[in-house]
Amino acid sequence: MLDELKSANEYIIGKIKEGNPVILEMEAFAEEHNVPIVTKEVAKYLEFMVDINETTNILEVGTAIGYSGTLMLNACEKYGGRLTTLEIDEERYKQAKENFERAGVSERVTQILGDATEEIEKLDEKYDFIFIDASKGQYRKFFDDSYKLLADGGMVFIDNIMFRGYLYKEYPKRFKTIVRKLDEFIDYLYAEHPRFTLMPFGDGVGLLRREKS
Ligand SMILES: C[S@@+](CC[C@H](N)C(=O)[O-])C[C@H]1O[C@@H](n2cnc3c(N)ncnc32)[C@H](O)[C@@H]1O
Repeated sequence: MLDELKSANEYIIGKIKEGNPVILEMEAFAEEHNVPIVTKEVAKYLEFMVDINETTNILEVGTAIGYSGTLMLNACEKYGGRLTTLEIDEERYKQAKENFERAGVSERVTQILGDATEEIEKLDEKYDFIFIDASKGQYRKFFDDSYKLLADGGMVFIDNIMFRGYLYKEYPKRFKTIVRKLDEFIDYLYAEHPRFTLMPFGDGVGLLRREKS
């Protein structure tokens, strides 16, 4: 979470009361097992964007245990929305499968187990919403590969793009390459995509809309 917005984010998180027991269980599991799931204030924003976009087909890079996937599927249920989601870790893939079943959304999910740097290229559907939330060092590759699949008027939502605030403040040396790559990625998005915007909340959210042709 970006330091200067920490208290605002904490205030918002304190206001959000989740009532869905399956979602609550996933949150508790993630906390207990250190699974990095989308933070609550970003999750609300994600649901909002999926809904107002009247989303029908989502591509997610980074399933983890199916938390954000379930939230997005609930948000687009009224549009008959579907989700294709990619995860490299087999244990998480299996946990997500169980969670999608328990949440009653599994019929609308296609799970892919594998490295998204290879798997996205194999897809040939069009998606009207793409959520990028996996290894930050590969964000540019995930973006380039998935943007080819983005429908006109579709949206890309990129989480953690400002990487704990390390893009503009001192960071541990081991993150040098990731910080440089994310910084260059943001420059590229602003330069090449007129409908890109950067939101400084959560861990930094990048949003982009593809022009309707
Ligand atoms: C931040 S977590 C995703 C959280 C999830 N979107 C949520 O909010 O519920 C990132 C996930 O991406 C997966 N991942 C990392 N690199 C990947 C890659 N190259 N291909 C597919 N999945 C990857 C990790 O194993 C991890 O489970």
